[in-house]
Amino acid sequence: MGINFNKNTGEFHLYNDNISYLMKIMRNGQMGQLYFGKRVPQKDNYDYLTENRYRPVSAYVYDNEYSFSLEHLKQEYPSYGTTDFRMPALEILQQNGSRITDFKYVSHKQYKGKPALKGLPATYTESDDEADTLEILLRDELLQAEMTLIYTVFGKENAIARSVCFENKGKEKYQITRAMSLSLDLPDDEYEWVQFSGAWGRERYVKTRRLQQGVQSVSSTRGASSHHQNPFVILKRPTADEFQGEVMGFSLVYSGNFLAQAEVDTYNVTRMMIGINPFGFSWCLSPGEEFQTPEAVMVYSAEGMNGMSQTFHRLYRTRLARGYWRDKERPVLLNNWEATYFDFTEEKLLEIAKNAKADGVELFVLDDGWFSTRCGETSGLGDWWPNMERLPGGIKGLSEKVEAMGLKFGLWFELEMVNRDSELYRAHPDWILHTPNRHASHGRKQYVLDFSRKEVVDYIYEMVAKILRESKISYIKWDMNRNITECFSAGYPAEQQGEIFHRYILGLYDLYDRLNTEFPEILFESCASGGGRFDPGLLYYAPQCWTSDDTDASERQKIQYGTSYAYPVSSMGAHVSITPNHQLNRSTPLKTRGDVACFGAFGYELDLAKLTAEEREVVREQIRFVKKYRKLIHTGTFYRLLSPFEGNFTSWMVVSEDKKQAIVAYFKTLNDVNREYRKLRLKGLDENLLYHIIEEETDTGSFYGSELMNIGMVTTDASAGEAPIGEKACCDFWSRIIVLKSE
Ligand code: DGJ
Repeated sequence: MGINFNKNTGEFHLYNDNISYLMKIMRNGQMGQLYFGKRVPQKDNYDYLTENRYRPVSAYVYDNEYSFSLEHLKQEYPSYGTTDFRMPALEILQQNGSRITDFKYVSHKQYKGKPALKGLPATYTESDDEADTLEILLRDELLQAEMTLIYTVFGKENAIARSVCFENKGKEKYQITRAMSLSLDLPDDEYEWVQFSGAWGRERYVKTRRLQQGVQSVSSTRGASSHHQNPFVILKRPTADEFQGEVMGFSLVYSGNFLAQAEVDTYNVTRMMIGINPFGFSWCLSPGEEFQTPEAVMVYSAEGMNGMSQTFHRLYRTRLARGYWRDKERPVLLNNWEATYFDFTEEKLLEIAKNAKADGVELFVLDDGWFSTRCGETSGLGDWWPNMERLPGGIKGLSEKVEAMGLKFGLWFELEMVNRDSELYRAHPDWILHTPNRHASHGRKQYVLDFSRKEVVDYIYEMVAKILRESKISYIKWDMNRNITECFSAGYPAEQQGEIFHRYILGLYDLYDRLNTEFPEILFESCASGGGRFDPGLLYYAPQCWTSDDTDASERQKIQYGTSYAYPVSSMGAHVSITPNHQLNRSTPLKTRGDVACFGAFGYELDLAKLTAEEREVVREQIRFVKKYRKLIHTGTFYRLLSPFEGNFTSWMVVSEDKKQAIVAYFKTLNDVNREYRKLRLKGLDENLLYHIIEEETDTGSFYGSELMNIGMVTTDASAGEAPIGEKACCDFWSRIIVLKSE
């Protein structure tokens, strides 16, 4: 890994063993992009990559010559209006109304390690030799505006982290109206664009299409990364698949409004960018002030989409997630939400906890409804003190009782919200985000607190910290159940209203950070009506996230499969719930529900007392399995094998670092009959090791890694004929977990 700068040509080469990133100071002082991809050698000169022929109807920078047009040059951080007509990475509105800027190279510095971003989540290094960082300082002379492009290349991961920092060194205040975290001009358009789209209950479905000339994008304008789109997209070569071929992933470490966009011009150059959504955004930068963009991470893989995902998994699991829980085995939890909803007493909760303990659960989580007047959706949000009628000993008493049973205790909060029917709202009606003299829309009868204001965040912090200080709380589920409308803050002047969406997220990060700091051993799980804020920004503060409210085992295969493109298994909260399923009214086998959920941060979302004795035994076995294998499942190399979006079968597997153990999950959606003989080609094993195939504790035979990967593991089931009476039949929503152990 390293960074070379060639003084003669002005070329920079960031590299590790597998990837190269080339750029140069162009003739006009702006930064040009040359190459991102598989490692190429260090050379004296990559000048041939700067292509600028005369093209009619273009505009040219220099008088009396027709060769230097920004429209046709690949750039690093482009602006609009100085001969480039494509969508820019930045735009600054100045006092005279102009939006033209001209940022030219001033200097650069490079150093070992990686800087933290003030107030923002970011990947990090544990020692300086893990990464090299380059900072390129550019200046717009007229405006005396400075801009630093920050690049970190990791040594062991094929990833480059980027962000941009603006500093106003002049005398004039100006508005930044667009500041992407990353912009990358690629020389061709031979890509498929993969996005992760959905809605509540069906988050992160995989959608793929061929790049076309013009602009294609996904974005959020909701104040959250959202259920609907994810701040993550892939550009893959059409011939690349899960296991081979060239793939690039672009991920924004941010939880608010974002834009991910590819613009293909009519010369088939692709401009990819990702950052804060410029729609509705502006940031007023006064003299002496700085503005730091969120971080974007781009990953290059020559080993297909699994290769790309594995890089994101390692990076986000070990160098984005932080703290006490990062490397610890996550507790098996039971959450009371679907067991009781709002209808509980302390006695009922303790009974649920007692049964959970009996079956091996380690953490009991009390969800919504424990505080103030909150016995339904209409009141109490914002008043974070226990409802003493429901919980006579308060949270303190309840948490002590749960701990006395030998369980840890966890608690639900929705700290960003308020009901109108609450003490908080009555005392501070101007603390909600709303536009003066206009109607304020509700979502689930609640309003969004103005986290752009420090006094609001301070107030909430004190309230929640008090409970955490006095009770035995080991886990927090941090929910967020609506998006922002009528965005306006009473705490800021007119010229700063374009900052509020972003300031809200900064306030959210600040609250998380303060709670992480004061309570470092509490495990945080983020949540937003299920998976409405499953993004890398929050993984920095909360190493796991509730993946979706949809706990149906079949639907979950799609949701977890889609989520796995960027996010590690350890980050996906995944629970077994009751059937018929509360979201789909569908019944699936208990085994299948467990087999899907064990590929996540595992738990239950039900009252175990409602199960039969036989089912309770299945639960005990699931928990034994999870405790035995969770470390391997969370830290092993994860491979997607068969996609639920493409057929009747879904499969994925994890392989231990030393390749001596692996676990394969294999799901069949609808049963079939008199069908083909089937095999499943496994991945990531050691060709020469002999593996025992163990299913439900039974050793069913031994096969070499090379057999399992090339011939395949036999998965033929009873459906390959008419199932004989007595043979273990399969059924709809059927599943298998197969453990591979080498000798
Ligand atoms: C939405 C979450 O996704 C659920 O799990 C639950 O916590 C409810 N909110 C509680 O209101």
